[in-house]
Amino acid sequence: MAMLDTQSPFLFLTCQPGAEPLVKADIQARYPALRFAFSRPGYLTYKSETLLGLDVPRPSVFARRWGLSFGWKPDIAQAWDLAQTHLQRLPDIVHLWARESEANDALPPEIQAREASLLAEITKSTSTPINREALQGQVVLHLIEIDPERIAIGASLQSPPHRSSVAGRPPFLSIPEEAPSRVWGKVSEAFWRTKIKPNARDILLDIGCAPGGGTRVLLDFGAQVVGVDAAQMHPSILANKRFHLLPLVMENVDPKTLPTGISGVVYDVNLSPKLMLGHLSALLSAIPSLQWGFFTLKLNQPSLLGDLKWMLKKIRASGFPHLFVEQLVYNRQELFCFASKQAHALTEAPSSI
Ligand SMILES: C[S@@+](CC[C@H](N)C(=O)[O-])C[C@H]1O[C@@H](n2cnc3c(N)ncnc32)[C@H](O)[C@@H]1O
Repeated sequence: MAMLDTQSPFLFLTCQPGAEPLVKADIQARYPALRFAFSRPGYLTYKSETLLGLDVPRPSVFARRWGLSFGWKPDIAQAWDLAQTHLQRLPDIVHLWARESEANDALPPEIQAREASLLAEITKSTSTPINREALQGQVVLHLIEIDPERIAIGASLQSPPHRSSVAGRPPFLSIPEEAPSRVWGKVSEAFWRTKIKPNARDILLDIGCAPGGGTRVLLDFGAQVVGVDAAQMHPSILANKRFHLLPLVMENVDPKTLPTGISGVVYDVNLSPKLMLGHLSALLSAIPSLQWGFFTLKLNQPSLLGDLKWMLKKIRASGFPHLFVEQLVYNRQELFCFASKQAHALTEAPSSI
């Protein structure tokens, strides 16, 4: 049996710890035939009525890593043996991590120590590359310590919607002290995820920019930035000659006053998307040069999840036919929507299970 014929009726997914109720509601709406099987904070499994393959589609917009699930074993050696039974041959790469390590800050020393001892153990069993970035088409074996003495075993086929890193962690886990806000992490992660790289020729629009953590990231690409916010900006941002502030609420921005050629927009307003997306769509559809957008969609009430389709429709109506939605590691009670004028590897619609 070839590895790609590997099948299981179970799938696993990982998400932001605490987001499990949202994951359950999202999967119930998208794939009502999937049956919830097991969960720990940040880790869930589901059972399908039919066998699933390694290319199982992303089951939820909250999923960061997902794939087939083969159950769990009490230690690495037994987990490795079970994985071999299912996969029939060595995987291309192993991602080994502790469930709680999906943090958005430097990992606590005790988790680092646990991961180090798991790694020491598995290197006794195999010379397969461990915890390297997964490349498209590779079969990734996930060994996740879900509890002490419980190693969950899963496998996935790497494709663009899958995060390529261990646990889906962004490559940076601490925010520079000089960053004006923690939004530095969110916007940096969005650029890492989408591989968008602005340069000095870009003019970017930053809506809800104060105090300027995200603006710092945009300026560090060398871009010109037009910020929109009536709140106080950090002095280090105001001092930058490539930053221009419109000290207004977004609803009062006249598109005719904006420079021509704006190529990207970052939207991070702390108000309900239901209130704001109509205004946003009116403003952005008057900027035909826009190529891409990063939108933070507040989800501070689970009921807002039911409005996600409507929100995405509004973003499409702003001039972006291609969308991708995910919960970033640096998102809290919110989702990230990447919107693009051109098709992009990430924005292919996930097919149904
Ligand atoms: C989460 S903070 C933004 C953080 C910022 N992006 C950063 O990187 O530091 C949300 C911002 O939205 C702004 N805001 C709220 N309503 C707004 C509106 N109608 N138009 C523009 N900005 C608004 C607030 O003043 C606040 O600064």
